[in-house]
Amino acid sequence: MTATIQNQASWAKAIAKPATEFPITQLSTISGKIPEALKGSLYRNGPARLERDGEQVGHWFDGDGAILAVHFAEGQAQATYRYVQTEGYLIEENANKLIFGNYGMAPTGSWLNRFGKSSKNVANTSVIALPDKLLALWEGGLPHALDLETLETYGLENLEGLENRLPYSAHPKRDPQTGEIFNFGVSYGKNATLHIYRSDRYGKLINKNQVNLQGLTMVHDFVMAGDYLIFCVPPLRLNPIPVLLNLQSYGESLQWKPQEGMEILVFNRHDLQLVSRHNAEPWYQWHFGNGFGDRDGNVVFDLVRYEDFTTNQFLKEVASGKTNTAAKGTLWQMRLNPQTGEFLEASQLLDRGSEFPSVAPAEVGQKSRYTYLSVHRPDAVINQELFGTIARYDYQTNTLTEANLGANRYPMEPLFVVDPTNPDRGYVITVVFDGDRECSEVWLFDSDRLDSEPVCRLTLPSIVPMGFHGTWRS
Ligand SMILES: [Fe+2]
Repeated sequence: MTATIQNQASWAKAIAKPATEFPITQLSTISGKIPEALKGSLYRNGPARLERDGEQVGHWFDGDGAILAVHFAEGQAQATYRYVQTEGYLIEENANKLIFGNYGMAPTGSWLNRFGKSSKNVANTSVIALPDKLLALWEGGLPHALDLETLETYGLENLEGLENRLPYSAHPKRDPQTGEIFNFGVSYGKNATLHIYRSDRYGKLINKNQVNLQGLTMVHDFVMAGDYLIFCVPPLRLNPIPVLLNLQSYGESLQWKPQEGMEILVFNRHDLQLVSRHNAEPWYQWHFGNGFGDRDGNVVFDLVRYEDFTTNQFLKEVASGKTNTAAKGTLWQMRLNPQTGEFLEASQLLDRGSEFPSVAPAEVGQKSRYTYLSVHRPDAVINQELFGTIARYDYQTNTLTEANLGANRYPMEPLFVVDPTNPDRGYVITVVFDGDRECSEVWLFDSDRLDSEPVCRLTLPSIVPMGFHGTWRS
């Protein structure tokens, strides 16, 4: 595999080999200084093993999840990196071969061998930190609970109420005032059913609701805006028979059917009751940024919007280390009447390819001045590149401030970290893979000076491949 990597983009070196775990290790500083008052932990999740015994997984989403934890205190930082010890990971580790199917691959072996095989919960998409445990999230199943300090895997977690092992998606939203957690999962029968969950700050399920969706579709994220939870359900339709027979993977069986339209569902987030349901012109999104209720009783939210589902093909190609398919997502802002589900306004804010929009945790569901996101470098050939920098979009001035990481450096989703000494200020933290030096680093910026030198850069003991989502726990 190494020989073919020579002609590929630098980012491919990060995933060419399965990532190596490391125990709790004191991190050395490359430049700058860790702020003395910074106390808390960064957790990041992502697919870390994309092959076994020379066989490659079918899609970037199929890799086994590994979690990075970086603990900050008293001007020092320690980190550890661990695979989530899922049942499927342990079985495949023992057999030293890929066995199970997943999002982008059918189970291995002859057709008879595949019969009845379940898919593997790869626990690779995101994390949420509860007071007493960390949850590794994957949208097709239950979360795995881990130790907040050591990342030891405790096992599957049902939040004291997810009966029948209902899925719990990777994009929960936390109310900054009450600490309550909102999330959803999609289950499949004759219809796809959207399950909505409300949990207390400990993660314990306190309320849920469910509605059937128009077709057998996939939902990755939703947005919390003021008193509402909003779902924009894209016109994907699953062809179920080949998936049930394990002849084709779930991802390969999803078809883009724009004629079906985008289903918009608005729920009251206090009682989880459906407020409105409407059909709109379709687009595709993986991720929303933030949302809020405006003075007229409407809701405003942002998202990274794609014309169609081509982005899935690009993400499939990432697993091979070489991409060809261009799929550009850009930052949009929408205004919606929650009582009817109709859009009042839709505008593209930025023409740059971008992803992973996020806000300060204290502003989730409320009006926020800034959105942080990963963006392509201006000169990037987008069908060949992963995101080369991070940026902050200012809704007050409609300007973008971007970091200059240098060429062949690949940041992960930027996260806002509040300054413990001043709640009006903060940092932006990310993990950067350096494709020239083939190593990974933690970079911390002053959130108001993203275009300046980072506050500090810390070296990680081994490569942590670009992943999906993370969180900061103060
Ligand atoms: Fe996501």
